[in-house]
Parts: sequence; C-alpha cells; structure tokens
Amino acid sequence: MPATDKNGLILGIETSCDETSTAVVRGGGEVLSLIISSQADLHASYGGVVPELASRAHLEALLPAIAEALREAGVGYPDLDGVAVTRGPGLIGALLVGLTAAKAVSFALAIPLLAVNHLEAHIYANFLSFPGLEPPLVAFVVSGGHTLLAHMPAHRTYRVLGETVDDAAGEAYDKVARFLGLGYPGGPVIDRISCQGDPRAVAFPRAMMHDGSYNFSLSGLKTAVINFVRKARERGEEIPVEDIAASFQAAVVDVQVSKITRAARETGVSRVVLAGGVAANRYLRERLEEALQGEGIELYYPTLELCADNAAMIASLGWRMLRDGDISPLDVDAAAILPLGSTNSLPSSAV
Ligand code: KG4
Ligand code: ZN
Repeated sequence: MPATDKNGLILGIETSCDETSTAVVRGGGEVLSLIISSQADLHASYGGVVPELASRAHLEALLPAIAEALREAGVGYPDLDGVAVTRGPGLIGALLVGLTAAKAVSFALAIPLLAVNHLEAHIYANFLSFPGLEPPLVAFVVSGGHTLLAHMPAHRTYRVLGETVDDAAGEAYDKVARFLGLGYPGGPVIDRISCQGDPRAVAFPRAMMHDGSYNFSLSGLKTAVINFVRKARERGEEIPVEDIAASFQAAVVDVQVSKITRAARETGVSRVVLAGGVAANRYLRERLEEALQGEGIELYYPTLELCADNAAMIASLGWRMLRDGDISPLDVDAAAILPLGSTNSLPSSAV
C-alpha cells in the first residue's frame, strides 16, 4: 500500500489467548468483517485457559475463520494490502499459530506483515470506535493479563505511569469468581450480580490507594475476600454473594478511579480511554465517568465487542503501522512478554 493510500485493506489475526479472531478492516477504521470464535466453553471446566488446548483449538479454527472474514467482507486474498497479527504478549503456543499463518499469507501474497502488540491494539480499539479521537490522552489497559496506566502524548508513543505489582484486574475477578463458585470467566458475572449487592457491605482493603504511585496491587484483596468468606462460613453466617461481589468490585474500582483521575490531572490531558476486557465493567465506566466529568475530562471506551479480544483492533493498528512504514520482517518472533511501546517509547524523562 502506498503511504498515501487511506483505503488500504488489512486482514487482522488474533490468537493470543482463548479467542480465535479474524477481521478485514478498510482504512484503519471501517470494519468490513469481524469473526470471533471463543473457546471459553472449552476451558470453563478447568476454571481458566489451558494453554495446550488453546493452541490446538486455534489451529482448527483459524483457516476457516480467515476464509469467513474474507467472504463476509466480500474481498479476496489479492485485494489485501497487508496482514496484521498479534505478536505478543500472550500464550506462546497460541501466538505462534496466528503468527505462522500471517507469515504464510504475507509471503504467498508478497504483502507486508505487521506484527502487533496486543496491549497497544486494545488501546487502538478506541480509535476504531471513535474515528475523531486523537491523543494526547491517558490510557488504562485492564485485561485478564494486564493492569496498566499510560500517558499517550501522540500516536504510538507511550509512557507507562504504573502497572500491577501482582495480579491483573481480570485475573483477580476470575479468581474471586471461581472461589465464590460463579464460573469462568468471572468478570462479567461479578459485574452483573454486583448490581443487586451493597458495595458498602464489607470494607475490603484498597491497596496502594494513597501511596502516590500509579501502581496497583490486587493479590491482598483477593486473599481478603477468600479469608472473609471462609471465616463467615465457619461462624455459620450467610452473607449474600451479591454483597461480597459488590464490595470486592468497589474496592477494585475505588483505587482505579482515584489513580486514573490523578494521572489525567497530572499529565494535563482532556481525554481518558479504557481498553481491554475489564473495560467492559459497568461499575468502572460509571464511577470513572462521574469522577472525570467533575474535572472536565472526557471518557472513551470501545463497544463491548471491541473491548474483548478481537482482530479488528489488530487490523486497525496494523493499518497505522503500515502507514508509518513499521513493517515486520518475516522472521519476527512471537513474544509471551511484550511491554507496551517497546519499539516506540519515550524515555521516561521526556514527558
Ligand atoms: O482483554 P481480554 O478479553 O483478554 C486478555 O487479553 O486478557 O480480558 C479478559 C478478562 C477476563 O479476566 C474477564 O473476566 C474480564 O476480562 N472481564 C471483565 C468483564 N468482562 C470481561 N471483568 C470485569 N467486568 C466485566 N464486565
Ligand atoms: Zn486482550
């Protein structure tokens, strides 16, 4: 695609965890097709994702999903201007399935390969949902594997302000849900039943709330919930699970809202974006909207479908990489750990 072609067609491929997803996106913003094949049922009985099962399921689902994305978009392989794929972070075996397929497409069609950072793509789901949105902004990336707060002064440029020192937010939701017998994935269930619970029923700890940093810690909260429920059961007390869920969620969200609001204020931005699976959380959206409104700061979050893992966000970021000439070599490796902005970051003293 010439650097000036705003209509480039990108095939996106996402296989980093338990979603096999493909998409065709035109010009970085127009989603012509989006296929998401979830493996959640496959992993549900294990209470979490089993990496080897995930890789095998991706292998079975991917080629039909690519064919379906092309068919739904009404385009053929020769129409593609590039192929974008998640390179990391994620489960290494799962990543390799998508990356290998993308390399084959790139080589066979002689079109650019765009190896995408999954965390950055979650942020870019916002630019898909809101075409007029532009940096500077503060991004809060919350998913099953990450909790991260970053200042984004310009496109594809990040300064990580803080992150979790132990469990990711989604991981904490899933573990607490599993302990309460609510199934997997736990985030959506806790979110739903919390509406019927009292967030002030139990005063769970708000870790690192006032430590002055932008870091988060959730493993203590998870243990506090488990200990509280065990002790209550020993005493023969029955505390409604809705109250436990709502109180846990309030403890998580209180710290998040406080740190995000402070980060926006201190960096002087007028926009905040939520990204990642946990960005679907209704309580977080509501509480943050309220807090930011008071500061004159606008909150953005992607549609529910684009919050979760999907290939449209991968294709969208791939299109921008292509425009920037950020094309990946065919021997690029998958990376289980891949920091945000590892190829395009500012030195921390520069902002
Ligand atoms: O971004 P994502 O789809 O996958 C990763 O890259 O990790 O995030 C999945 C995580 C799961 O832990 C799930 O429980 C959580 O997002 N999640 C939620 C909600 N919907 C999904 N957590 C809280 N509230 C929700 N509504
Ligand atoms: Zn994700």
